[in-house]
Amino acid sequence: MVITTFLLLSGVSLFAAEDRATNPRPASSEQMQWFRDAKFGLFIHWGPASISGAEISWGRKDRIEAGGTELQKVPADVYDHLYQQFNPVKFNADQWMALAKVAGCRYVVFITKHHDGFSMWPTKQVRWEDPARPRYYSIAETPFKRDLCQEIAAAARKHGLKLGWYYSTRDWTHPDYLKGDNRRYNDYYEAQVSELLTRYGPVDMMWFDHAFGDWNQFTIEHLFQTMYQAHPNLLVNNRSARGLNNIPAGAMRQLTEADYDTPEQHIGQFQTNRAWESCVTMTKCRNDTGGWSYRPGEPTRAFADCLKMLVSTVTGDGNLLLNIGPMPTGEIVPEQIEVLRKMGIWLKQNGKSIYGTRGGPFVNGNWGGSTQRGNKIWLHVFEWSGDTLRLPTLERTIQSARLLRGTKVKPVQTRAGLEITLPKAQQDPVDTVIELTLAPVKTGHSPGAGSPQL
Ligand code: GLC
Repeated sequence: MVITTFLLLSGVSLFAAEDRATNPRPASSEQMQWFRDAKFGLFIHWGPASISGAEISWGRKDRIEAGGTELQKVPADVYDHLYQQFNPVKFNADQWMALAKVAGCRYVVFITKHHDGFSMWPTKQVRWEDPARPRYYSIAETPFKRDLCQEIAAAARKHGLKLGWYYSTRDWTHPDYLKGDNRRYNDYYEAQVSELLTRYGPVDMMWFDHAFGDWNQFTIEHLFQTMYQAHPNLLVNNRSARGLNNIPAGAMRQLTEADYDTPEQHIGQFQTNRAWESCVTMTKCRNDTGGWSYRPGEPTRAFADCLKMLVSTVTGDGNLLLNIGPMPTGEIVPEQIEVLRKMGIWLKQNGKSIYGTRGGPFVNGNWGGSTQRGNKIWLHVFEWSGDTLRLPTLERTIQSARLLRGTKVKPVQTRAGLEITLPKAQQDPVDTVIELTLAPVKTGHSPGAGSPQL
C-alpha cells in the first residue's frame, strides 16, 4: 500500500493499473502461502569452481572484494580458466530433482551466476569484447555446453518442485562492474535476470545475494518492474539491494526488503510477522565459514543436526534452505545424499507436524519448539528435564495428546503450567513429536494476557 501511494504521488508507476489492486507488493499473504507452507527447500551451489575444491568465488585469489582471506586458494588466472574443463558428464537434473523430492523438499534454488561471474546458462549478454577471453563466460563455452538452467527448470517442474534462481548481482570479474555510473554493468545484469525469467517457464523465486556501490548506480525499481511483469507472483528475497549505499527510506526500502528475510549459516529467531528462510550449508567446514560449493575433505553435517535445524526453523515460523555442493562430475556427494534420504524418511512419518503449519504458540528454544494448525499443536521436544517437559499453560483445554507415532500421553495443565511426562525409553533421541488436540473454544472465551497466542 505504502509503495503504491508513494509511486502514485511521485508519478512513477511500478505496476500496470489493473495490477494495483490484485498484486500489492511485497507479496500478499495469498502469494506467500505456498512458501509459508513449504518449509523445506534445497539450495545448490555448483559451477566450474567445484573443480578446484575451493570455495565458489571466495576461493579465487586477488578478489576485488575484501574478506574471507582464509578461503583464497586458487590464483585468479587458474580460477578464470576452470570453465574450460567443466564437463559434468554425470549431471542428471532429473535425478537431482527426484532426490530433492525424496528428501521432502518443496522447492529448489539453483545458482545461476555466483560472485565469480560465470553463467550456468547460455546467456546472450556479451561480457568481454577482448578476443583473448570468453565472450560470455557461460556454460556455452565449456566442453559440456548444455543449458543447466533449462534442465533444472524442466526437472523441477516435472517433480512438482517450486523453482528459485539464485543470482549474484555483485560480479567480481565483469569488466564494467561498478565502473563510473555502472550503467554498462547494470544493463548487463538486468538483461541477464530477464533471460532467467523469460526463457524457462514459470519461476517462483528470485534469490539475490547483495549488491555494493551506490543506489544511483543501479535501477533497482526498474528491475522489480521487469521481474513482476514476467511473473506477477514472483517472490523475492531481501538481498536485491542489500549492501547498497543510500537506498531511499520508505517505499524503496520496503520494495527492496521484498518478501522474506535470509538469516545465513544460522537458524533465525522466532518471528511470525514476516517470512524468513535460513540458508545453511550441509558441509560444515572445520576452519572457515564456507561450504556452499564442493569442498572435498570437509565433513557433512549429521542427519540429526540437519533435522534439528529443520525443526528449529519451522517451530520458529521460518523455512530451511539446506545447501548441497555437488561434485564437478555432476554427482551429489554420497554423504549428502544419505542425509537427504533420511530427512525424507523422517518427513514421511512426521510431515504432518511440519508442512502447512505455523510456528508457535510456544516460543522455541533449547527444549525444542512447537508448530500449530487448526486445533492441533505439535510439540517437538529435543531436551527433557529427566522424564518431564514443562511449558507455560495454554489458554485452551487439551482434549487429547499422543506421540505422533501412536502412544497416548497424559498432559497435566494447571494454572502454573503444562507438564508432560514421558519415560526415557519413549523419548526420541533427536525429536520427540507430541500431538496435542485442543478442545473447541467455548463462546465468550477470551485468552488472557501473557498466554501463548493461538
Ligand atoms: C554469502 C556468500 C555466498 C553464498 C551466500 C548464500 O553471501 O558470499 O558465497 O552463496 O552467502 O547465502
